[in-house]
Amino acid sequence: MSSKPPKKLPRSLRRTLLLWLLLPLLALFSIGTAVVYHIALDYSEDAYDRGLLEAANDVIQLTKESLKNTGQVATQSEARDMILADQFDETFLSILDEQGKLLVGNGKLPKPHLNDISSENNFFYDTKVGHKEIRAVATLLTIQVNGKAHTWQILVGETRHKRDQLADDIISIFVIPQAIIILLSTGLVMLGVRRGLAPLEVLRAALAKRSHNDMQALEVPDLPTEVQPLTREIDHLLLRLAAVFEVQKHFTADAAHQLRTPLAGLAAQTDFAREQDNPPPTQHALEQIKLVSTRLNHAVNQLLSVARNEPGADKSVQLAPMDLNEFSRDATLEWVEVAVRYGIDLGFEGHSEPVLIAGDDVRLKEMLDNLIDNALRYCPKGSRVTVRVDEKQILSVEDNGHGIPPEERERIFERFHRLLGNEAHGNGLGLAIVKEIAEIHGAEVTVSEGAGGYGAWFKVSFPVHPPAQ
Ligand SMILES: Nc1ncnc2c1ncn2[C@@H]1O[C@H](COP(=O)(O)OP(=O)(O)OP(=O)(O)O)[C@@H](O)[C@H]1O
Ligand SMILES: [Mg+2]
Repeated sequence: MSSKPPKKLPRSLRRTLLLWLLLPLLALFSIGTAVVYHIALDYSEDAYDRGLLEAANDVIQLTKESLKNTGQVATQSEARDMILADQFDETFLSILDEQGKLLVGNGKLPKPHLNDISSENNFFYDTKVGHKEIRAVATLLTIQVNGKAHTWQILVGETRHKRDQLADDIISIFVIPQAIIILLSTGLVMLGVRRGLAPLEVLRAALAKRSHNDMQALEVPDLPTEVQPLTREIDHLLLRLAAVFEVQKHFTADAAHQLRTPLAGLAAQTDFAREQDNPPPTQHALEQIKLVSTRLNHAVNQLLSVARNEPGADKSVQLAPMDLNEFSRDATLEWVEVAVRYGIDLGFEGHSEPVLIAGDDVRLKEMLDNLIDNALRYCPKGSRVTVRVDEKQILSVEDNGHGIPPEERERIFERFHRLLGNEAHGNGLGLAIVKEIAEIHGAEVTVSEGAGGYGAWFKVSFPVHPPAQ
């Protein structure tokens, strides 16, 4: 079995900016915090070490005085206790002679390696008493006892409570505010990136709400200078596209027009041939030719209709006052025969009074024809289709067929868009034509489900005050 390659995230400007700003910022802050924390810890360790050394020197002083006064090393232990007294830590003292014999203390404090000690050098070392971590200093005491020179080792140690406490204090007074600064900077960077990229969102919104027919230059106020070249390029592209569309529009209209005459000839010749006494296979082939030429004719007519109704394509639109009610009833009547063939109950519900709008009746007929044609073709046999006109200048076609899924209700108005799983033949142009003709009339076309919650209901709402001609 081949494993799927991991899905690559699309490149995002926001992510790239955040990554390049936040990661170095976080790294710098973290390194800075670690360095400052260690420096602060080193300084405090030095200060406590000096205190320890002072205590060791006081012990030396006391020992010298004791020897001078009493000839004893271990007297005045209260004074020694005072020197070493510490409210946070347990202290340890050992005085050893040159053979390593314990002269003073309980001998719990381990000795450093002898080589580490010299008379000039006080040696600090970390050790353990039982489970307790100990910081200790070893120093030498050179003394004359009974005319003989002795070099004794003075070891002073203490537990690490106050040092550990200080390390905790440094964390809380320094590292925690630092972490808060990091969080705040992260928030500010994210805010800054969002604000910086906001004009792109404005540009996106301006492009998104544009009609596909609108080839005017983009006019988005207050765009930053970095984005302006982009909009200039888009404007140039729109200009070029407008020129291409113009050519294409004419081409479609001309090509469809040129196809009409030969198609009419083909249909007439096929009709003539069908009426002859043909062997069954020939007759079948002729029926197929007839079907295809009818479809082709429909496609050509739809193409011509699209080209004719495109905004700006035909300046000859003449909106004139007309009664939507009467017009729709007559147009619906023309479809009754076809509806009967499809096995569909086609009805009309009009308003009791004339419903006046400003309209182009040829185009409105094309529009209504497409809506009724769809309803008849896409609804199953036995369905009901109702064309309605009401006093609010709404012309609608409602059916109780399969309906149109909500997620498709915008897209079906796009050219060539058809629903999947649809067996009925079509070009996907009808609703695009409906929309274009509605726009010509300043009307809005929408689709929803029918009143019963199923089927499709297309509504064309004409402006209450018809646009001036
Ligand atoms: N009343 C309806 N009920 C269900 N589906 C519909 C209805 N009207 C339209 N549709 C769906 O919308 C699609 C688009 O319709 P449209 O009229 O634009 O194109 P078409 O009918 O396929 O082709 P053309 O109208 O150009 O012959 C249709 O293919 C169909 O799937
Ligand atoms: Mg159609």
